[in-house]
Amino acid sequence: MRIEENKSLKGYNTFGIDCSAKYFVAVTSVSELQQILSEEKFNNRFIIGGGSNMLLTKDIDALVIHLNLKGKKVLSETDNTVTIQAMAGENWHEFVQYCINNDFGGLENLSLIPGNVGTAPIQNIGAYGVELKDSFVSCDAIEITTGKKRTFTKEDCNFGYRNSIFKNEEKGNYIITSVTFQLTKKDHKLHTGYGAIQEKLTEKGIKNPTIAAISEAVIEIRQSKLPDPKKLGNSGSFFKNPVIDSEKFQQFKINNPKAPYYELSPSEYKIPAGWLIEQAGFKGKRFDDAGVHKNQALVLVNYGTATGDEIWQLALKIQQAVKDQFDIYIEPEVNII
Ligand code: EPU
Repeated sequence: MRIEENKSLKGYNTFGIDCSAKYFVAVTSVSELQQILSEEKFNNRFIIGGGSNMLLTKDIDALVIHLNLKGKKVLSETDNTVTIQAMAGENWHEFVQYCINNDFGGLENLSLIPGNVGTAPIQNIGAYGVELKDSFVSCDAIEITTGKKRTFTKEDCNFGYRNSIFKNEEKGNYIITSVTFQLTKKDHKLHTGYGAIQEKLTEKGIKNPTIAAISEAVIEIRQSKLPDPKKLGNSGSFFKNPVIDSEKFQQFKINNPKAPYYELSPSEYKIPAGWLIEQAGFKGKRFDDAGVHKNQALVLVNYGTATGDEIWQLALKIQQAVKDQFDIYIEPEVNII
């Protein structure tokens, strides 16, 4: 393990923000991770997985640990299902593709989500009617203060919409080292009803889609709306879609009869933040190198040299404009560091 000093983190966060780490180390095994956690000299640590859900607004005055844990293995199989474990440092999309190539079903709707396997449970990644929790079995994690291993079951994780125990009670306490999934080997449960998937399949003339066809449809939809972080720095949806109560919703509907919405229950309604931001006039806007994506207003982008603070100031401006126009508070989905 080589510890570097004053290392730029530009290549380690998908926003491409050029902040630096006082110390930096990449670990390639769980034992290396435990070893570095036991070193008292570095009792201030900061973990980076895929760097896909964070906005760095300052240099990190700590030891940044980059999780480079690789590997995947089938733990058990039945005629219908397979239980598979992937290490935290595996790229999420490559893992999804591996599953599809082996005809393991369950993750196809989550194709092309940026980031790594180990960070996926933290915010319970989701897209097109499917969430990570739907095929999640458990994850192994190391407690930062003790270096001890703990297995979190699905119940332990307390998953919600873009939410889990790792964003609440256990925030900053554990490092996820691997995730175990249960996937289907046959009779795959296909989710084609949400968003633009059915439309895309019809457009392609596909009547009985395979999981590979769904994955391809999702990839095409995402590529048409969401910028590729390798080409344009971004962190996917910057805000969560807000949930409002029925009283507020009734008024919202009267004022905005054409607004899209999802009824979660008779007392809760989710409004797409992208729509609110577009109505507030920010879609496609650019302020120096910080901007709002032209095809999806929920995504903030770094055109090259924006600082984390410039992006954060833009986010605050958007938040205020949406509040002023709709009296709705939109909360960031990404972690602001
Ligand atoms: N909309 C607009 N203007 C925009 C963007 C969206 O009017 O600029 C409208 C759309 O027309 C549509 C509605 O808002 O009626 C919803 O848009 P979309 O289907 O694109 O989904 P979203 O709610 O904006 C969520 C997730 C995405 C996920 C998609 C598809 C959140 C915060 N975001 O976006 O997740 O890919 O659904 O399931 O829940 C991510 O988390 O990084 C992410 C990209």
